[in-house]
Amino acid sequence: MKVGIIGVGYVGASVAVSLLHGGVTRELLLHDRDAARAEGEAMDLAQGAPYYPRATVRAVDLDEVSRCDVVVFAAGRNGRPGESRLQLLADNFRVASEVGRVVGQHAGIIVAISNPVDVLTRVLQQSSGLPPERVFGTGTMLDTARLRQALAERLAVDSRSVHAQVLGEHGDSEIVQWSGAQVGGRPLRDWPGWTREDEQRLGHEVKRAAYEIIQRKGVTNHAIGLVTADLVRAIVRDEHRVLTVTRCHTGEGLDGVALSLPAIVGRNGATTVIPPSLDDDEAQALAHSAQVLRDAWSQLAP
Ligand code: 2OP
Repeated sequence: MKVGIIGVGYVGASVAVSLLHGGVTRELLLHDRDAARAEGEAMDLAQGAPYYPRATVRAVDLDEVSRCDVVVFAAGRNGRPGESRLQLLADNFRVASEVGRVVGQHAGIIVAISNPVDVLTRVLQQSSGLPPERVFGTGTMLDTARLRQALAERLAVDSRSVHAQVLGEHGDSEIVQWSGAQVGGRPLRDWPGWTREDEQRLGHEVKRAAYEIIQRKGVTNHAIGLVTADLVRAIVRDEHRVLTVTRCHTGEGLDGVALSLPAIVGRNGATTVIPPSLDDDEAQALAHSAQVLRDAWSQLAP
């Protein structure tokens, strides 16, 4: 399967490195509005070929990248220090709808990363006309990674042994599903020494993670690169992984809103959404998150 990346700034370039190191694709195509930038990245990455599984990297135009089996949308601007992801919508929605229209002429899969990823996923889905299971975003996969890492540190276990997830908006209204978190089959809430204060502190840390990084280095790019490569691998290898991706939902009172819920991801996209078992507080928080995203969408489509 051919994989393409639209937008090769810091984030797109990190996705490219992670895809190549992970041996996810044999053919990687890069596109950027600044053609010289895409060419430079392709040359730079291609010259590292002896150090990753066999693959070619080329810079191409929008038409060619949109013919890829999987197209990663990483275009648009990044957040400035202190800016919320939703504040990027006014600047990034136009490029998302233009790209959606072009990519939608082919029957590939679109993976959104640019922010606000939930609203842009909905923009891409509508402008491309592709079915909702073929247009999805990394959503709270990144927050879930941050949560697992923070929990792993707190409990002194490997992050891969922590089963916990963040749902809803990839942003300020996201929610941690504490009621379902487990380590080694044991509910986290039964873990010796675990307290509700831990939940408040770690939930806050995870929500603030990107702000803290952007304050220091101006951008977040490495973790999102790894997350995206993991998601694209699940698609091209038809892994049927359950991942917290964002996609448009029907029913459950969500009627069209894109937000992250666990979904089975494989060659045909994020096909089956698994409604999570939430306690009352979590269900209320998820409804609030959906409302935040509905409000953001209504600013676009009055
Ligand atoms: C992140 O969470 C900014 O969405 C980006 O790192």
